[in-house]
Amino acid sequence: MSNDNAAGSTTGSGAPAPSDRNSLSLGSNGPILLHDVHFLEQMAHFNREKVPERQPHAKGSGAFGVLEVSEDVSQYTKAALFQKGVSTDMLIRFSTVAGEMGSPDTWRDVRGFSMKFYTSEGNYDLVGNNTPIFFLRDPMKFPHFIRSQKRLPDSGLRDNHMQWDFWTLNPESAHQVTYVMGDRGLPRTWRHMNGYGSHTYMWINASGEKFWVKYHFHTNQGMEFFNNAEAAAMAGQDADFHRRDLFEAIKRGEHPSWTLSVQVMPYDDAKTYRFNPFDLTKVWPHRDYPLIKVGTMTLNKNPENFFGDIEQAAFSPGNTVPGIGLSPDKMLLGRAFAYNDAQRNRIGTNFHQLPVNRPHGGDVNTYMFDGQMSYENSGAAPVYAPNSQGRSWADQTGPVEEGWETDGEMVRSAYELHAEDDDFGQPGTMVREVFDEAQRDRLVDQVSGSLLGGVHGEVLERALQYWKNVDEGIGKRIEEKVRADAASEPAEGMGEG
Ligand code: HEM
Repeated sequence: MSNDNAAGSTTGSGAPAPSDRNSLSLGSNGPILLHDVHFLEQMAHFNREKVPERQPHAKGSGAFGVLEVSEDVSQYTKAALFQKGVSTDMLIRFSTVAGEMGSPDTWRDVRGFSMKFYTSEGNYDLVGNNTPIFFLRDPMKFPHFIRSQKRLPDSGLRDNHMQWDFWTLNPESAHQVTYVMGDRGLPRTWRHMNGYGSHTYMWINASGEKFWVKYHFHTNQGMEFFNNAEAAAMAGQDADFHRRDLFEAIKRGEHPSWTLSVQVMPYDDAKTYRFNPFDLTKVWPHRDYPLIKVGTMTLNKNPENFFGDIEQAAFSPGNTVPGIGLSPDKMLLGRAFAYNDAQRNRIGTNFHQLPVNRPHGGDVNTYMFDGQMSYENSGAAPVYAPNSQGRSWADQTGPVEEGWETDGEMVRSAYELHAEDDDFGQPGTMVREVFDEAQRDRLVDQVSGSLLGGVHGEVLERALQYWKNVDEGIGKRIEEKVRADAASEPAEGMGEG
């Protein structure tokens, strides 16, 4: 066979490579030789070419795009990216939560909705989901939650019993479980789902006034869902359906877009609001805090290299910019640590130097120094601060602009209760007032199907009560279905042979 690529390739150190198809051997049939450095380099690198997958949210993909701000929200934030007329380059990554790298895109799950905005003041990351709330209120529970959704330690199998055991022992999960057991657990494509910041964040305007905000990205493609049968068929037919759909749509020039709106709560309202506005299991009713439009996010460019643009992308809710802060939401504060730490392990100590993670505007002047694969070295500049050699350093003192007041002794405890704090109120309202009859029917089918898939004993009883707590009527329908189906199953040894 002739070599059509006659210019050849090189070794990692840039010298001409001898051959990419024949190893060096002693005679044509003889043993291969240990000093075939090119062969050894290829083998050794191959053994190291995978990085650990993300602990949760391992399977996903994404695209680049732009956020264009069409409205004036400067009364709420001074953040450069949210000023009217500003366009900011961005990256998004969509994902499933529990599945591993090769798992089907269309398995029922929450979907990740991670955004990195390359603003003129540094990168701002919003790492949310396709639901406005979450399963938990305390980050201490998060590793337990994720393990309960993944695989059994002995068989390595997924297990409904384990999932329901965790959910029913943590009833604050009810709102998110209702979402995921409903239509939102099976979005037709990533283009046809909404995204949310989910947590409450802080915005600060140019006068230093503070507000609490929640972000909503409403799809302009319309919300569309699969039913169970369609999702299951697609999981078998094309496990990468969502990844393919997004890539091909953008390639065709169909650029999906989302309208960004925020709910804004005046800073002092949080103290007296009827439920805890920092509780991640709650939405803020729109009648109390209506949506305020900000602009439009459009995805217009596919990744050019999946590993470099998507796998090496590192999002963190801790990456904020001036005019934006965190909030007393304990989940958010726990997340502020977790992500960059995961990335130091997953990608490497200097992951922030990779092209996809580097800010686009302005120089980076960080005193993080050296480490594996350090590329942006500081030359002869002083490596300590303060210094008297002209390298600048940060020197804020006093109250921080994006801070809030807090007082009390150190405790381990749930949030103090507000008048209307509970676990089941909002999911009950959703089932009764937001879902229509057909959605309620699908919810009953889905939950009872899941409970019949191996949930037993005390956990089953707790799960039936959990749904009665969400809504007495829905709970009874689920119970009837589960008990009827369980009763109709042939007793062991009595079925067809
Ligand atoms: C205390 C609670 C949480 C902890 C400790 C946690 C931790 C993590 C970790 C370690 C990763 C992998 C990061 C990486 O390897 O790059 C991750 C990914 C992710 N998490 Fe969380 N998480 C928490 C809660 C949440 C919540 C509440 C949401 C959404 C509202 C969320 C959305 C995501 C998304 C979308 C990703 C994928 C990021 C990407 O696309 O690269 N997580 N989480």
